[in-house]
Amino acid sequence: MAAAPFARFANADLEEITSTRPTPFYAHDLDGMHAAAADLVASFGNAPHLVAYAVKANSSASVLRTLVAGGAGADVVSGAELELALRVGIAPSSIVFSGVAKTDAEIDRALGAGIASIHVESIEEIARVAARARSLSVRAQVSIRVNPSLAKEAIATHAHVATGHDEAKFGVLADDMPFAFEALAREADAIDAVGVSAHVGSQLTEVEPYVASAAALMTIAQEFRRRFASTMRLVDTGGGFGIDYGSGCPVTPGDFIRAARPLLDRAGLGDLRHVIEPGRCLVAPYVVLVSRVVQTKASPSKPELRWLLVDAGMNDLLRPALYQANHRVAVISGGSGPLRPWRVVGPVCESSDDFGLHALPEEPPRIVCFRDAGAYGYTMASRYNGRALPGELFLRGGVVVHEVGRASDASWVSERLGA
Ligand SMILES: Cc1ncc(COP(=O)(O)O)c(C=O)c1O
Repeated sequence: MAAAPFARFANADLEEITSTRPTPFYAHDLDGMHAAAADLVASFGNAPHLVAYAVKANSSASVLRTLVAGGAGADVVSGAELELALRVGIAPSSIVFSGVAKTDAEIDRALGAGIASIHVESIEEIARVAARARSLSVRAQVSIRVNPSLAKEAIATHAHVATGHDEAKFGVLADDMPFAFEALAREADAIDAVGVSAHVGSQLTEVEPYVASAAALMTIAQEFRRRFASTMRLVDTGGGFGIDYGSGCPVTPGDFIRAARPLLDRAGLGDLRHVIEPGRCLVAPYVVLVSRVVQTKASPSKPELRWLLVDAGMNDLLRPALYQANHRVAVISGGSGPLRPWRVVGPVCESSDDFGLHALPEEPPRIVCFRDAGAYGYTMASRYNGRALPGELFLRGGVVVHEVGRASDASWVSERLGA
């Protein structure tokens, strides 16, 4: 059976688009992202909320503007992401700032902008933020990111993206919260204690770990409210909503909200702003990484070994090398005959530059794409091996509305010559 070609994407003809462009490039379906954001926002009904999109997943301005038009704000983790969010016009009141090691300059920028919350991740950071606020003569809006201390095995995701257990560097341990409360009270002249947050892990394909994390957070949030009733404004249950990378995902992003909302209501916290921090689910399914096949490689003595060498590498899409992620490979053009297993690999000089085994036509395709590549794709790209960063193009209504071409090799050479 021949593979069904994946020629149409976002109502556009990918083969035609690719015919005039160098590869690899990321193609974005902005309409799909807009609908995903609007759907998630709608799942809150009338409850006060903030869908704080995790900018680290995909930071293209076109993506940010699209998600904001769908009703989202931003969760940022660096001064640069904060600056970008502000520059694309996201209201400071719709921005939260997480991160374990914020510099003074980053804290100052957040304080100056007046964002909704600086999510501090340690007791030490409370004093640092207070000191910066005093020196700038402003009041800091501070939430505590809580590490809900779940058992590692209770967080059903890859170990590298599980964050809500004791060995993770993130957040203040639930057991340490009394000390965090004391620190907040001590710094009350400079800090408004606005809430609590938690993020248990990424690519969750069941709601249970999210609910367990939210349940632990609610107990802490109730105590927080008892102590800081006049300033508490939000409860942030984090992101991590999984998507279907090909092996199934029985839950939708809205399911996480529908599971977590009753916890807030039961805890008497339903009037607070319910913040969530989704990244992946708003962008991953709506992007493909398009790549040309450079050549095949076979072993005459070991015919079971067959490689499809493509022009995209781990520098363009790191997830498979970083945490054994699988991205389905689809045919855009070329390819005929029965499906055979091909090991799809890139040009980078590393054994881990390997996208895995994929069933592709015997007569190999000319152009392929890696599906569901919109999260932690371009944002993790590097120039390793002197490779240019991949291009990015953005589709709306079936037409290319914006694009950034792939950089040239020459630009890398001149940059390195200057070092
Ligand atoms: C604090 C925080 N919030 C939100 C996210 C976004 O997670 P996801 O893209 O899985 O929704 C992450 C991801 O690492 C995170 O660390």
